[in-house]
Amino acid sequence: MSRAKSGGVPRLPVLPVHDGLVVFPNQALPLYVGRPASLRAAEAAMERDRLLLVVAQQNQDTTDVDPEPGALYRVGCLCRVLQLVPLPDEAIRLVVEGLERVRVTRYHRGAACLEAHVALLGEPVAAVAPEDVVRERALVRSVREAFEEICELGKAVPPEVVGHLLSLEEPDRLVNQMIPHLGAPVEAKQRLLETLVVSDALLHLRLLLEREAEVLRIEREIENQVRREVSDSQKEYILRERLKAIQSELGQLGSDDVANFREAIATRGLSEEATEKANKELARLEHIPPSSPESVVIRTYLEALLELPWNERTTDSLDIAAAEGILEEDHHGLRDVKERIIEFLAVRQLRQQAKGPILCFVGPPGVGKTSIGKSIARAMGRKFVRVSLGGVRDEAEIRGHRRTYIGSLPGRIIQTLRQVGVKNPVFMLDEVDKIGTDFRGDPAAALLEALDPEQNNQFSDHYLEVRFDLSEVMFLLTANLLDTIPPPLLDRMEVIEFAGYIEDEKLAIARDYLLPKQLAEHGLSGAQLTCTDPALLAIMRGYTREAGVRNLDRTIARVCRKVAREVAAGRASSQRVGRSRLEPLLGPPRYVPGHEKEQRDTIGVAAGLAYTATGGSLLAIEVGVVPGSGELRLTGRLGEVMKESAQAALTYVRSRAERLGINTDIKQVDLHIHVPEGATPKDGPSAGVTMTVALASALAARPVRREVAMTGEITLRGRVLPVGGIRDKVLAAYRHEMSAVILPEDNRSDLQEVPTRVRRALTIHFVRHIDEVLELALATSTGDATGG
Ligand SMILES: Nc1ncnc2c1ncn2[C@@H]1O[C@H](COP(=O)(O)OP(=O)(O)OP(=O)(O)O)[C@@H](O)[C@H]1O
Ligand SMILES: [Mg+2]
Repeated sequence: MSRAKSGGVPRLPVLPVHDGLVVFPNQALPLYVGRPASLRAAEAAMERDRLLLVVAQQNQDTTDVDPEPGALYRVGCLCRVLQLVPLPDEAIRLVVEGLERVRVTRYHRGAACLEAHVALLGEPVAAVAPEDVVRERALVRSVREAFEEICELGKAVPPEVVGHLLSLEEPDRLVNQMIPHLGAPVEAKQRLLETLVVSDALLHLRLLLEREAEVLRIEREIENQVRREVSDSQKEYILRERLKAIQSELGQLGSDDVANFREAIATRGLSEEATEKANKELARLEHIPPSSPESVVIRTYLEALLELPWNERTTDSLDIAAAEGILEEDHHGLRDVKERIIEFLAVRQLRQQAKGPILCFVGPPGVGKTSIGKSIARAMGRKFVRVSLGGVRDEAEIRGHRRTYIGSLPGRIIQTLRQVGVKNPVFMLDEVDKIGTDFRGDPAAALLEALDPEQNNQFSDHYLEVRFDLSEVMFLLTANLLDTIPPPLLDRMEVIEFAGYIEDEKLAIARDYLLPKQLAEHGLSGAQLTCTDPALLAIMRGYTREAGVRNLDRTIARVCRKVAREVAAGRASSQRVGRSRLEPLLGPPRYVPGHEKEQRDTIGVAAGLAYTATGGSLLAIEVGVVPGSGELRLTGRLGEVMKESAQAALTYVRSRAERLGINTDIKQVDLHIHVPEGATPKDGPSAGVTMTVALASALAARPVRREVAMTGEITLRGRVLPVGGIRDKVLAAYRHEMSAVILPEDNRSDLQEVPTRVRRALTIHFVRHIDEVLELALATSTGDATGG
């Protein structure tokens, strides 16, 4: 709207405004009009060219009457009505656009409304002199900053408006458009409207902004103070109230429960650390809703913690003579083992706190390792528990999972103690040799922590989080082989080896221990079933073949079952089982005596002796020679070491070809070495001697004497080196009815461990060099040789 055009407006309808409003040019804003004179003024404006004068009322209180001209300011804003919207109750809403500052030269009571004669004031004067321009700019910047500040202090201005205002370049517009957003009093706004120098207006606006900021700061301060007061005194109260409401909503946590836990904590004899931990968890439990998963986790934890035997123990029986009696009563033979155990118990008795070694029973299956452990517990008057470590790869199985895991549990040691309910049981850990290691940590290291008497009074399970004293537990370990026991564990153990049994021992065990035990288990009396010695021997030979007596035990159980059935059915009141009764009861024998032994001296087949997890065994090594190009093939799941020792054997045989009477050109044939029973992996160097004999036999076409068994490692130059497992290997040779055994000279001392009876039954040759072996093993006559 140009000044020229509005310049010709001598008289304007006057619209007085109150409510702290002062209308400025460059604004569009709505006005609510209800007073009769104002309504008439709006009407008049609409009838003419929509122009009217909006002027502020000096006395803001007079709202309901039409104000006198003397109550109005004399500077106002020429406005154009953009919109008129009728409202209920005769009122209207006007949207007006501010056009120009005007001064009222005279008010005049018109026919319909108050009118004013006005003069245009023009736009405020901007600075011209350079220093004034600089000042003006500085003021603009200061105004913008101040405005931003009040917005930050919490002045409610929509962000898009803030953006618009801060982007305004013209100082005059900036003032005009910013002012309605300030909470300044009417007088101050009116003064600004009347200020006709830009820099003065800016300065004035700046002061208004400062005052606004000050007010906002004080408001904020007050609010913070109020909030602090509330938070200190009432926050807790409010939270508790809220919590109560939630709990009653979810069903109240049984206060009985909490009381029970509390009582248990007080009476179960927990360690100080555990008590503290339990109380902490209990406090948490009280404050969370009982149906939340977290609550279940805490309860489970508290139960686990409280059910541990913190203080429960059995009283040790300290009578060594009685202990000896019990061991004797439960087990036949095992003289060395029993002696060692008695010594061990004696030392423990003398020094209760003795940090003795950890006993480890090593031997083939079924030789009584577990059952002697049970006897030890019985002899000491302790409870017995057993945990198998076979296949344990995860450290957490020993030491538990951290509770952050859902469904986490304590490790097996803690779990087992909780089950057994005393802190001093005899605790047997079976199959330490079958423990593994992988990315989930090293279970052996965790196990060591549990076993080591130096540190196991502070055993920490990840789940429990508090230490538990394991020092009163008597740990016993068992293993079938020593080789695969993790070395750090092996270091701390005292190994007690269990030999395989010979026939005499087995017979005594079967007659005096296994049979009576099975009779009792099947509800038979000694009168109802008798078993002759020849029958027991026939069972051992024909139905079982083992170092221990596990299968023997089972087969006797089968006999008892069959007989019990007949007795129960009334077909017989008592039975005497002799050899002839076995086939009807058990079916045909599974083993023919001497079955593994060759039926005749054979070319290319030699009987080796091996030591496996099941004790000693006979291992036939076969060599085949076929036309070919000098290749060596090996089959039967042989390990690397065994393959290398086959190479060494071949090299040696080739170097001695002439002396051995070998006419075959080795380049013209392929050699195939096979070790039967391919499903079982085999390894180790102790078959070196046997392979050499089989190779030499095959190539020289000289048969091997079938009743000779052998073991020993060889070097490329033919020296025979000592090997392990001599006792069990010799027992195996005896079991398989061999007549001679060839052993390395350096193993001579190991023969002491072999029962005299067995030693007498066999011819034992000690050798230093493979040539001696070949001499002993190869038959001189080739007359009855077959195969190859
Ligand atoms: N010397 C013995 N006197 C009496 N019974 C025995 C004897 N040796 C073993 N037994 C009996 O043989 C059975 C098997 O023994 P046990 O279970 O203790 O074997 P193990 O050595 O623990 O074998 P594994 O290595 O397989 O665990 C048991 O019933 C045990 O009572
Ligand atoms: Mg066992």
